[in-house]
Amino acid sequence: MAIIALKQPFPHDMMPLPTHDEHAREDFIVNLKMHMADHVYPYDETVYEKKAKPKFVKEKGRAPANSDEVHRLMMAEPYTKFWSAIARNMQEMLWDNQGRIAEHELPRIQTYVKRASNSAKGTLKLDPNFKMPRYIDAVDIHAMPGGYQTTLSDEDVFVGAVYDRGAYYYTKGMAGRWGEGGAVATINLMRDMFPDFKPKRILDVGCAIGWTTTPWRDAFPDAEIHGIDVGGALLRYGHGRAEALGKAVHFHQMSGEDLKFEDNYFDLVFSGGVFHETSNTGARKMMKEMHRVLKPGGLTLHYDIPYGGEYGLHAQFMLNWDSYYNAEPFWRQWTAINRTEFLTTAGFDPSTIIDAWADRDHDGTFRLFPKPFDDIHPNPRGGIGRPQFFGAWKK
Ligand SMILES: C[S@@+](CC[C@H](N)C(=O)[O-])C[C@H]1O[C@@H](n2cnc3c(N)ncnc32)[C@H](O)[C@@H]1O
Repeated sequence: MAIIALKQPFPHDMMPLPTHDEHAREDFIVNLKMHMADHVYPYDETVYEKKAKPKFVKEKGRAPANSDEVHRLMMAEPYTKFWSAIARNMQEMLWDNQGRIAEHELPRIQTYVKRASNSAKGTLKLDPNFKMPRYIDAVDIHAMPGGYQTTLSDEDVFVGAVYDRGAYYYTKGMAGRWGEGGAVATINLMRDMFPDFKPKRILDVGCAIGWTTTPWRDAFPDAEIHGIDVGGALLRYGHGRAEALGKAVHFHQMSGEDLKFEDNYFDLVFSGGVFHETSNTGARKMMKEMHRVLKPGGLTLHYDIPYGGEYGLHAQFMLNWDSYYNAEPFWRQWTAINRTEFLTTAGFDPSTIIDAWADRDHDGTFRLFPKPFDDIHPNPRGGIGRPQFFGAWKK
């Protein structure tokens, strides 16, 4: 097996830096993830088609009727149990290593945040009375220690530090070295589709540490850029990071379900990878709020994991694995929501809906996204979960 060297994330002043051994662990985990994506997961379908499904048909006189049946069937297969256990372990190893790195880097990062805040170009507004939504508080999403919600002191940045390096390795560099990939891809798509649209006020809902917020600053240097999230320590880290990168962004602690902005304020409301981590009720309230704060003639545009309704049953089982074994309780429900219904229920006109895919280039990477590897890798993303963009114009 060829060893893949993933470029390191961009070392801005806030980036937690690993020791030699911690970095070796990062490389090990990312190589194991690639190996699984290229050589292990794809054969699950063969096990399904050649072994599990024929056995099921023989016993029941019919094929599995839905992905829940496929799920139960496959989780009795030694092959599936084997890769599933490795996948969960990889995730725990990844975060465990990132937690160690963040811990020894905290004093340096906290000092930096304080210094950066004193000369900031952007702003940070935390809400001491903020009530965390239960769907965030009740789970450490994707098994990330501390989830998004944990804030242990009024200087805490731990979960932000874990996210910055950890999510980079989690996504095998798919997000780009600055974590900018999803936003840059959305900007590329928007420019392809609507070259004359130049938003002046932009909101990133569920911005975490600003990976998806700062690219809008580069793309629209004269615009007013806001990022909101529920996590206080995430935002504190994000503010310091944005200042380290020299990008003026306004961060606020608030829920997308209750935006503290007036009606018709924004030209563009964006989110990246948020809805699949939000309860059904929460996601729908959020979209209604997005509609409210958009100006008539404004655009809402998002990317997230794909709608799985048109996938085959085995592919749906693979797509939704995270919901059962990777602390992603809402993932499965999101892959079943029809985007048109979701947007129109929130008030958008069906005639304005945008639905697009980040299709693959010849080298296997997704068109519109940055390329994470120095060497061409035949299937750097692995898996079946290609990003889907969706949105609508407010009439
Ligand atoms: C997968 S992260 C994506 C973060 C960022 N857009 C990025 O791509 O790096 C999802 C984010 O959504 C936030 N989130 C979930 N529910 C939210 C809500 N109701 N209001 C605001 N943010 C929310 C989480 O706290 C988390 O930071």
